[in-house]
Amino acid sequence: MAATRALSKFWMLTNDFVQNPYPVLEHVRSEGPVRELSLPDGSRAWVVTRYDEAKAALADPRLSRDIHVHYRLMSERTGRAMTPPPEEANHLANLEPPRHTPLRRAISFAFTPRRAEALRPRVAEIADELLDGLAGQARPDLIAGYADPLPVITIAELMGVPSHAWPDFLRWSVALRTHSPAEGSGTLDTSIRELSSFMSALIAEKEQRPGEDLLSALIHADPEHRLTRTEILSTGFALMTGGNDTTASLVGGVIATLLTHPRERAELLAEEGRWGKAMDELIRYVSPINNALQRVTTEAVEIGGTTIPAGEAVIISVMSTNRDTGQFPDDPDVLDLSRPKPAHLSFGFGIHYCSGAHLAKVITEVGARRLFERFPGVRLAVDPSELRYQQSPVVRPLEALPVAW
Ligand code: HEM
Repeated sequence: MAATRALSKFWMLTNDFVQNPYPVLEHVRSEGPVRELSLPDGSRAWVVTRYDEAKAALADPRLSRDIHVHYRLMSERTGRAMTPPPEEANHLANLEPPRHTPLRRAISFAFTPRRAEALRPRVAEIADELLDGLAGQARPDLIAGYADPLPVITIAELMGVPSHAWPDFLRWSVALRTHSPAEGSGTLDTSIRELSSFMSALIAEKEQRPGEDLLSALIHADPEHRLTRTEILSTGFALMTGGNDTTASLVGGVIATLLTHPRERAELLAEEGRWGKAMDELIRYVSPINNALQRVTTEAVEIGGTTIPAGEAVIISVMSTNRDTGQFPDDPDVLDLSRPKPAHLSFGFGIHYCSGAHLAKVITEVGARRLFERFPGVRLAVDPSELRYQQSPVVRPLEALPVAW
């Protein structure tokens, strides 16, 4: 296989891989469940590519998501002492038990599927407003104009951010996306500081005047589920960092997929209830996050016959598991809406399972449906082979999705 011979030690970091990772991943999986990857700074990571081993790794407490463990490793590698900023250091996505447990309990209590479901009509309104803005354009880009802002505005709404602050929220969200601790001193840049002070003021206001939103629910929770101000602020950061890019990547990917799969699109549009059942197959096929569920080993861990020493980076390639024939035996490279409920790992597994999974599905379903219902003639303005993916360590967004109405 050509992909085999060309496999470099940086195999997952090349642009060819970003554009079409599946043949390379298929080859890597065929050789074993774990593969070494060289990193540009001279260090290495271990990539877990098969479904069963990935699922076991996500449930293994010796593989840590604790941000302090990750910063320690980065400090060792760069020779520069780095500490995480408080906004990042105190939220559930970046902590392990025992600190993770009460934070997770609080968010599970306040951020229920029912709360996500209640946002459905607002998501439709936001989608319609964005589509109104695009309707007059001859060749709109559905990534910049639709898939990117739709989750940011929805999550702002979820948190009770007033609409006049949404443009700032979009700007801050981009800043969060591009923030890299390895490049800076570990402190947040100006726009992230602005977000932090905006959120602190918002929390103070909701302490006095609670609304129907998630921040108010967290602030005014029963004493047993109540968080500190720093933890609530940090949870706001977790919702933004966890929810915006991931959902944008899914919305863009699902729309692009349905533009190139007219039969499946017609099937979905013919029956409203069909979306719910089809959504997991769409997520498996699109793979909105790529290779990046990152962990650090706190002791030596054996995965699929490979012993990974303590203090090493492990990347769990969700994208690879989504096409593993061990889990999806019937032609995993094909979108098959009748596939029996595909148990993909795109929302993770175990104690860090995505808190926003239901909301992500609501945003994607409503966003795609509103587009196709309002513009039944919408079509790609370029050949599908011209679509390009952005290079990102976490998500797999399209660079642009130009369409004609
Ligand atoms: C398609 C969209 C989404 C995808 C693919 C996704 C994926 C994931 C994954 C894989 C994890 C686990 C990470 C790990 O184990 O390392 C996770 C965690 C999390 N996600 Fe999502 N997510 C999405 C949307 C959202 C949304 C909309 C929100 C909230 C508004 C959200 C909030 C979170 C939070 C708070 C966590 C941390 C949970 C914990 O550590 O206990 N996500 N997400």
